[in-house]
Amino acid sequence: MTVALVTGGAGGIGAAVCARLAALGHTVVVADLDLEAAERVAKEVGGTAVRTDVSDPADNHAMVAHAVAAHGGLDVLVLGAGIQSDVPPDPGLDVARYRRALGVNLDGVVFGVDAATPALRDSGGQVVVNASLAALGPELANPVYALTKAAAVAYVRAMSTPLARAGVRINAICPGFTDTPFLGITARLMRKQKFPLLSPDEVALAVETVVTGDGTGEAWALVAGRPAAPYRFPDVPTTMLPDGTEVVLKPFLSAKQ
Ligand SMILES: NC(=O)c1ccc[n+]([C@@H]2O[C@H](COP(=O)([O-])OP(=O)(O)OC[C@H]3O[C@@H](n4cnc5c(N)ncnc54)[C@H](O)[C@@H]3O)[C@@H](O)[C@H]2O)c1
Repeated sequence: MTVALVTGGAGGIGAAVCARLAALGHTVVVADLDLEAAERVAKEVGGTAVRTDVSDPADNHAMVAHAVAAHGGLDVLVLGAGIQSDVPPDPGLDVARYRRALGVNLDGVVFGVDAATPALRDSGGQVVVNASLAALGPELANPVYALTKAAAVAYVRAMSTPLARAGVRINAICPGFTDTPFLGITARLMRKQKFPLLSPDEVALAVETVVTGDGTGEAWALVAGRPAAPYRFPDVPTTMLPDGTEVVLKPFLSAKQ
């Protein structure tokens, strides 16, 4: 029996991901700040719940320990907990909100990967990070949110090689606007414009596609009306000597090598 843990599993997208992974045969751990809601989802999918604040390293270790103690291991980690930054682009930065956004959306990814890697290494498992389309293009209304999601995607891409050495895959999904409480009043404004939103189930289906695939280091873009597909990042310019010769650095993983 394979075990999946979903952070933010009590939320709109997270609950749909829990249901889909359970339907695939995984035993699901629902990790969320909102324990009551997490317990409701866990009951629906026949899994267990654990109260987790993903911005806290100790909570990340505790949720993984729960999965291992209650279900014998961890095969799939979906890092989906996230918040709007509520930091407008205008001067007068609200430092507390800024740090909170980074704490949940970015630390929650880094701490989650760190805490789960030993268990995932044992199972040859994988991580899926729920980033956002905001990671791939300028999100004018919410630059701090875009910052957290772009950093998460950069982390996924950079970690894919060291994690591959441990037999662990890691990918990101980058959904566009999805119909959940997360959007707040924006959802109503979008409906007024007849702008189609993704459903949480469509995002969960993209997670299934990634989980059942074999790629790593990918960021799957997902918008309403189009099939999910790995985003093709443009090539990075190569370094050039004054005589016009291109110089390519041999890959290395750490200064020790
Ligand atoms: N809804 C969208 O339009 C959209 C689009 C792209 C990406 N996303 C991303 O998808 C993810 C899920 O979003 P959603 O739309 O389901 O939102 P949601 O608000 O419905 O659910 C978010 C869940 O995360 C939980 N959570 C918040 N802070 C937490 C913390 N510190 N620790 C643990 N859990 C915490 C909440 O309790 C909630 O259950 C987020 O990372 C979001 O950034 C959402």
